[in-house]
Amino acid sequence: MKSSIRCVLECVLVALIAGAAGVASAEDARIRALRNDQAALRAAVEAGRKASFFCVNCHGDNGVSRMLDVPNLAGQNPDYVLEQTRKFGNGTRKDEFMQGLIKLLSEEQKLQIAVFYATQHVPPGRQDAALVKQGKQFYQQFCSRCHGNTARGNEIIPRLAGQHTEYLELSIGRYKKRTGERVDPLMFNAVVPLNSSQIKAIAAYLNTLP
Ligand code: HEC
Ligand code: HEC
Repeated sequence: MKSSIRCVLECVLVALIAGAAGVASAEDARIRALRNDQAALRAAVEAGRKASFFCVNCHGDNGVSRMLDVPNLAGQNPDYVLEQTRKFGNGTRKDEFMQGLIKLLSEEQKLQIAVFYATQHVPPGRQDAALVKQGKQFYQQFCSRCHGNTARGNEIIPRLAGQHTEYLELSIGRYKKRTGERVDPLMFNAVVPLNSSQIKAIAAYLNTLP
């Protein structure tokens, strides 16, 4: 299949799946409303900063994690963060600790935390130049049609730019090996043809992106 046609088909599929999962839900409407009300947005960001006091232990100050197997949340798309809290909440994404923790947050707090992290900056990392060059080619071939040319994703697709290489490799491995911790048919299809050195190169490239 020509890649442009494939992209159109897949993007429609992404939108349909997101719709079925309730992504275009009340909370996302609230994120959109916040974007149009600067004072309310500032208040929500401040409340989110406070509500995230416990998350700091693993996700780091301002969402830049110092543990390499824990994802940065800084700069992550708020709709995606909310969707993942829903998935931990209903057990479709499995991580024992996060599943338990998410139940302790109110819907309001989840929204505030998501918009707080979205306003934070993730510093790009440094990696071997040759590996990064390879990774860029693989990324453009296999990933950019959904995650975007700058790897910042969109409402339903996560940002990958600046993410830790270790977490990226772990995360990709979970979809690819069908461990059951994360199930997503689109991601499975996207990563199943890759071998471990290609995954390593892609992760290195993504880590260096601002
Ligand atoms: C004990 C460590 C720990 C604490 C504390 C913690 N997390 Fe996590 N979090 C993790 C780990 C590990 C993962 C990755 C799990 C996986 O790969 O599925 C994760 C994943 C996430 C994700 C998914 C991110 C992505 O890129 O897909 C979100 C959202 C999240 N955590 C939010 C929070 C929030 C909000 C808090 C505070 C209320 C919090 N976490 C506190 C360890 C922690
Ligand atoms: C057809 C669209 C599509 C393609 C192509 C695609 N992805 Fe994804 N990706 C998604 C979606 C949708 C999610 C969120 C799935 C979920 O909720 O678990 C995702 C999630 C991810 C995550 C988890 C992010 C996090 O913060 O935990 C990683 C890592 C990732 N993709 C890497 C890649 C890489 C690397 C490629 C190329 C080899 C790729 N993706 C190609 C749609 C795609």
